[in-house]
Amino acid sequence: MFKLLLLLLTTTTILAQQPYSFLQGQKPATKPHHKKLTHLRFFWHDIVSGRSPTSVPVARAASTNTSSSFFGQVNVIDNPLTEGPAMASKLVGRAQGLYALASQEGIGLLMAMNFAFLDGKYNGSSITVLGRNMVFTAVREMPVIGGSGLFRLAQGYVQAKTYTFDMKNMNAVVEYNCFVLHH
Ligand SMILES: *[C@@H]1O[C@H](CO)[C@@H](O)[C@H](O)[C@H]1NC(C)=O
Ligand SMILES: *[C@@H]1O[C@H](CO)[C@@H](O)[C@H](O)[C@H]1NC(C)=O
Repeated sequence: MFKLLLLLLTTTTILAQQPYSFLQGQKPATKPHHKKLTHLRFFWHDIVSGRSPTSVPVARAASTNTSSSFFGQVNVIDNPLTEGPAMASKLVGRAQGLYALASQEGIGLLMAMNFAFLDGKYNGSSITVLGRNMVFTAVREMPVIGGSGLFRLAQGYVQAKTYTFDMKNMNAVVEYNCFVLHH
């Protein structure tokens, strides 16, 4: 019984320590004019409370305060993107742009943001995401509509999955998996 407990403890410790990595894979282009497929994974931190929020409301409609879906609010964001879910994990980029609360039923966002990467060879390159984000859906898919630097002529999609959402202060950590075709 004790041995089993020890084994369980060791396994959970190993799982908890499993390192996160930014680049998840890359399929090379087979012909020169073909695009390669890059899969990146990181965590997006929407910090709306505390001393240094990275997501600030800049507009509200008069009716926003009485709307359960916050319809009419717009936030501008400069959200850290980190390799693992912890804020202290390596910074790989920033999500800069805005989201608008654009649904009268349920919390639904119009997202318009650039992922400005800061890590290694991706430093200085970016991808642009524009899409619909129903935040209480398990996995939300949004289009990648372009990119710059290493991501020139990018096309693709991202999948967003909430990692933690703190109901009290409304801060959220969201896992993003990006699948991008580019030159
Ligand atoms: C909505 O509520 C916020 C915070 O309580 C307040 O600052 C703002 O003036 C209100 N806006 C309107 C349009 O009533
Ligand atoms: C990214 O590029 C900027 C500007 O060239 C440079 O100042 C910074 O040190 C680079 N960051 C990393 C992590 O390489």
